Amino acid sequence: MSRRAEFEAEHPEVHILSADQAGRVDLVMGAAGWLGEEEQVTTCALLGGESSTVMRVELQELRGGWRTAVLKQSLPWLRRDESVALPADRWRAERAFYARVARLPEVAARMPRLMSANQARSLLLLEDFRGASNLASLYRGASLTEEVAQALGGFLRALRLGTRGDPDPELENAGMKALNHRMLFEAPFTSPVAGGDGLGPDGAPPDAAALEAVEPGLGEAAAALRSDRPFRESVAGLSGRFLGDGTCLTHGAFHPGNWLQLADGGVRIVDPQFGGWGDPEFDVGTALAHLLLARQPDQVAKAFFAAAAGVEEEDDGEETADADDAEAGLDRELIARYAGVEIARRLIGGGQLPLKAEAGFRCGLLETARTAAVSGRLEVLET
Ligand SMILES: Nc1ncnc2c1ncn2[C@@H]1O[C@H](COP(=O)(O)OP(=O)(O)O)[C@@H](O)[C@H]1O
Ligand SMILES: [Mg+2]
Repeated sequence: MSRRAEFEAEHPEVHILSADQAGRVDLVMGAAGWLGEEEQVTTCALLGGESSTVMRVELQELRGGWRTAVLKQSLPWLRRDESVALPADRWRAERAFYARVARLPEVAARMPRLMSANQARSLLLLEDFRGASNLASLYRGASLTEEVAQALGGFLRALRLGTRGDPDPELENAGMKALNHRMLFEAPFTSPVAGGDGLGPDGAPPDAAALEAVEPGLGEAAAALRSDRPFRESVAGLSGRFLGDGTCLTHGAFHPGNWLQLADGGVRIVDPQFGGWGDPEFDVGTALAHLLLARQPDQVAKAFFAAAAGVEEEDDGEETADADDAEAGLDRELIARYAGVEIARRLIGGGQLPLKAEAGFRCGLLETARTAAVSGRLEVLET
């Protein structure tokens, strides 16, 4: 029996939704109490979630009123490939993240408002950023403005300062943290294994021949990195650290696929399903890794980092000279190490990105990633 059929037999109450069945979505939203009197779902459009079903629903009133919302259903498998299991409790963590940051105005202002949640059906109803598109376009050659980079950094700063030292058991998210750990620290750096189940959205890493086809020399470079002792030791050390309790709430997947560019140029952050307690350096390092993978200019990465570190403004609007004080609580070396591992994982692991890059780019960046992971040094973080 397929994973879905088994689930449906065990949970007849859940109602698995799809965007091509607006009538069913209408019934389920009505049963959840999410429709106004004389309001009806008219159309649904899939927004392209990899792991969850994320759709835009259009709601119409008899009197002519009209609105849209985003409906996200997170089931214990990968939407893109239902044979891949995902932790069953990821829905709960995503809801808890939104609930927690609702108390942090600077964070909440950059995320969709959670309008409602329905536990029995693993559904979230979110504010719809119509006209927005995710920034996966950066990998294909688009560029980020310094203002957007600063807004992303500012989001992480507010998240860190607003949650530091105030843990919350609802946000432990152990299953997703363990999955993130496998995708980041284990799967890419062991020799390719057969089959992808248990490896989440990344799946199994490509073998040497597949990496050579991506870029000549990459298969060989991957093999060398996997047997590089200092690198392996760094990964092992960082891996233990990642699994520790951490001090702050982290987003857990802070990359362009979860950054939305609004039509007016602003930016929003979605998808905290990997959110939980961890090192704030993890999100900052992940973002820097993706800015480098997407070949953004150094000043964009630096603008992001300055905002994430939080160079304070004085009352007169001048930046304080003493950035070190304001930065207290962010460890640059740790950021560089997390960034290094994330870059390496994306270059040689299963979570390949659609990079538009000339031959030699990946091998060169893999070298940078090795140095960052081993020595804690990354050029864009140097003062
Ligand atoms: N509130 C929203 N408004 C507009 N688009 C959204 C919203 N939430 C998600 N999306 C779009 O749907 C995509 C998938 O959503 P996401 O929550 O990241 O799902 P997944 O967990 O499957 O990655 C996003 O990359 C974005 O393009
Ligand atoms: Mg996502």
